[in-house]
Amino acid sequence: MEKLTEEEKIKTALEFIRTRTDFVPRISVVLGSGLGAFADNIETEAVVNYNDIPFFPMSTVEGHKGRFVFGNIDGVPLVLMQGRVHYYEGYTMQETVLPIRLMRAMGSEILLLTNASGGVNKSFAAGDMMLIEDHISSLVPSPLIGANYPAGTRFPDMSHVYDKELSKKVLDCADKLGIKMQRGVYIQLTGPNFETPAEVRMCRTLGADAVGMSTTTEAMAAVHCGFRVCGISCITNAAAGVTDKPLAHSDVQETADKNAPRFNALIKECVKAF
Ligand code: HPA
Repeated sequence: MEKLTEEEKIKTALEFIRTRTDFVPRISVVLGSGLGAFADNIETEAVVNYNDIPFFPMSTVEGHKGRFVFGNIDGVPLVLMQGRVHYYEGYTMQETVLPIRLMRAMGSEILLLTNASGGVNKSFAAGDMMLIEDHISSLVPSPLIGANYPAGTRFPDMSHVYDKELSKKVLDCADKLGIKMQRGVYIQLTGPNFETPAEVRMCRTLGADAVGMSTTTEAMAAVHCGFRVCGISCITNAAAGVTDKPLAHSDVQETADKNAPRFNALIKECVKAF
């Protein structure tokens, strides 16, 4: 069979979505581990499961539902990703960013990325929220390797991945809700293993404040395809070696669940302010 281009895959996936809904979102939100319950906050117009969409990589992670939820909050049209796709699931980086490019093709203009992450910065505590001010993606392959989709600049600028105006709004919304926001640099590693204490020290030396297994690649593809991007990390645990406690996905999930009400309130306020 002839190999399809990214453009053809996204066109086909979009045509399928359009058989289910003609909803045009203004804002896209990627909901990280344990944060998917935010979808309960919106007036739902349509739900499309990832496994029905042609060429869509499926989310296989526990706690990730694997569907797009379309709907409104106070008249703001949104598409939510309940569950993201990770490199460690065996997909190429290009495949992991197909959903981002697809949401842009739906007409969305703003992307809010959320995730669960480990606190590399020793002053962070489990349950803290961190505004992502910048990222380090150099230790994982770029999602922009390969065909230049959408046709545009081959060497995109990454000086301002996280939109200053949106980021300021996130801080203002947190302030309004009395939520303390940390700010910092997020580093993406491949996973699925958690880091060793030596790797966490490396991350700290490189200038990272939080570590996780997603997000930077999505942010890069998003900037490349014309989204305005911002990001919030829920620090679910101190990264390896910061304390002696072994790390487990169930603990990540539990902390994310416990903080979901605060997190959901913040996201809701943000999408109204954007
Ligand atoms: N490391 C990497 N990814 C994570 C962590 C962590 O400590 N916590 C949640 N996601």
